[in-house]
Amino acid sequence: MAQAKLTQLQQALNERATQQLLRHPVTLDSYNGRDITVNGRHYLNFSGNDYLGLATAPEVLQAFADGAAKYGAGSSGSPLLTGQHKVHQQLSDTLCDWLEVERTLLFSSGFAANQAMLLTLADQQDVLLLDKLSHASLIDAARHSNAHFKRFAHNDLSALNSLLAQQRALAQQPLVVTEGVFSMDGDSPDLPAMLALCQQYDAPLLLDDAHGLGVSGPEGQGSAAAQGMATSELFCLMANFGKALGVGGAFIAGSKTVLDYLEQFGRHYIYSTALSPALCAAVLKSIELCRSQNWRREQLQQNIGLFRKLAADLPLLSSHTAIQGMLLGSNERAIAASDQLKQAGIWLSAIRPPTVPAGSARLRITLSSQHTAHDITLLVQQLRQLV
Ligand SMILES: Cc1ncc(COP(=O)(O)O)c(C=O)c1O
Repeated sequence: MAQAKLTQLQQALNERATQQLLRHPVTLDSYNGRDITVNGRHYLNFSGNDYLGLATAPEVLQAFADGAAKYGAGSSGSPLLTGQHKVHQQLSDTLCDWLEVERTLLFSSGFAANQAMLLTLADQQDVLLLDKLSHASLIDAARHSNAHFKRFAHNDLSALNSLLAQQRALAQQPLVVTEGVFSMDGDSPDLPAMLALCQQYDAPLLLDDAHGLGVSGPEGQGSAAAQGMATSELFCLMANFGKALGVGGAFIAGSKTVLDYLEQFGRHYIYSTALSPALCAAVLKSIELCRSQNWRREQLQQNIGLFRKLAADLPLLSSHTAIQGMLLGSNERAIAASDQLKQAGIWLSAIRPPTVPAGSARLRITLSSQHTAHDITLLVQQLRQLV
């Protein structure tokens, strides 16, 4: 049955296997932030995005259970039909208060929110200008949109300036898209300088702050706030609830006009079941803890500082965030390093193409506020043995 198609699929799988690029999900027996158990064995976890340890905070777990009891487990509808419960509105209002923006819309995932953001906001006469290292969800959205699509060298403002000048000459409307913290390199653009450049060309600046929200800024408002900007200076912001906030789902925030437009024309919003209300209740609690418990961010910063100090002689990428990359080059080397660390009781995934450019396979170390100084010392000792 459909043999030709099956043969084609199998060939593609075989090719990936030969290139050592096959990936498989790991099933966790248990998760407790810094500790995970896989196949009955405990590991120190340096591979997650639960930067502040909120995924297992007892208050968040309780809010999830209470939310389910009060509002139900599922929303049972899309937001413009019957899927929007009081707790969704409460979450939107809380986000507006926290980020000082006019409106937000909730999405089932960051991937969906990025699709909605670019596909809905960019038209045929527009050109999307994306950083070269943009997340797959942004690249796919740009590819599928009706707009033209170009990429500029990573965090390079002069490359962006040249592209903006070219588009002006072609009378195309540019929209600039970047990330607050790049997911594989852990570095950040100079957002105020990028905004100033965008303003020169009257170009909207759209930010994916999946890895900045909760972690940076005085109350965890994210990368814009950390760099002294107001979130409202961005054309819009996408961030998710599944990383530092430890739950799941995502939102887009911005002005009333931009969000009203997304509400009317954003197909990923309109034609999708609204977030689970129980999950919204958990996210609300997580935001409350994130804003008020500055000690989580302080502990994370201390851990990042300690790691950078201890690992100063290792081939680390330049990053001052919770995402630290150690470049190894070949896929084989990255896999062997990850396996060796597992033997030593450390869980740290090898990141290979197509997630990162060819020849730049690496270990992606993610730090959390839950790691102790002893954990980090142990990690660095093991990393040193690899190089
Ligand atoms: C930068 C970035 N944007 C978007 C996403 C997608 O978010 P979600 O996992 O909520 O779909 C991710 C998650 O991997 C990410 O790292």
